[in-house]
Amino acid sequence: MNKLFSFLRSVVRGEINYKMLKYHFMHRVIGQHDTIVDDDFDWDHYTLHYKGELEVGAKKRTTVLSSDDYKFENRKLVQKGSRLPLHNNAQLLYETILLLSPESVLEIGCGGGDNLRNLNTLNSSFELFGVDISNSQLELFKQRHPELPCSTAIADAALPGFCHKQVDLIYTQAVIMHIGEKDGRHIRAFENAIKTSRQYLVLIENWEKHDFFGDVNDIFAKGVEGWDDYFLYYRESEISTVTKVMIISKVALDFPPLTDNGQLIS
Ligand SMILES: C[S@@+](CC[C@H](N)C(=O)[O-])C[C@H]1O[C@@H](n2cnc3c(N)ncnc32)[C@H](O)[C@@H]1O
Repeated sequence: MNKLFSFLRSVVRGEINYKMLKYHFMHRVIGQHDTIVDDDFDWDHYTLHYKGELEVGAKKRTTVLSSDDYKFENRKLVQKGSRLPLHNNAQLLYETILLLSPESVLEIGCGGGDNLRNLNTLNSSFELFGVDISNSQLELFKQRHPELPCSTAIADAALPGFCHKQVDLIYTQAVIMHIGEKDGRHIRAFENAIKTSRQYLVLIENWEKHDFFGDVNDIFAKGVEGWDDYFLYYRESEISTVTKVMIISKVALDFPPLTDNGQLIS
């Protein structure tokens, strides 16, 4: 009943639009949701919902940056232009990546590619890669950012055979939170991301969806090839303290140490 109430409230507030409603009706109400893979969405048809999310998001936030919207100055990503601000997640994620200053970056679950495009706008020297489980999401990426220098590939990060060339930094934004726990799928996606990273993994997720802190420690307790040691950190948005990013690093960093799952959950 509570779920239905909060769903109806979101519709009234305009947080759920026609495309998202259509997706839910077609693929959750009358369609058959995959019960073998208990992810939150049917990724083969998700693009309809995602386009709705992009439309709703663009009313309140700048989703695709121009070069004069934000500048990275004195270790902060500062808004310069007068357009709508970035989403708090994006602001904290990009600032964290700029601070870590990797050469190569992979987004797992890159969707329509706005994050990769914005990273290129903020620092054109990043070598960029994106993978996604959905062909139609990557088609949308090509439509939205046809000129972006970024290699993309279809891949399910939760499969045992996930394989991608190693990069300095991997990040996810709103991906592992949507992967189901059945048969350890979410853990495998997490583990695959760590294995593929040369130096850093940066996650920005709904921290209440899985026990991310426990999971990462369990993964390292079993040993991860190429990682002799690991350090866990978090950063909090200065604009909204509920927005937190988790950083897993091979080397010690000057960020607040993450020692408890409670630090991620406000
Ligand atoms: C909520 S969207 C977020 C997209 C993008 N990260 C963003 O911030 O706009 C989740 C994305 O993750 C992708 N995805 C879901 N499960 C995945 C998996 N197992 N491997 C790779 N991509 C996945 C979906 O197709 C979708 O594009």
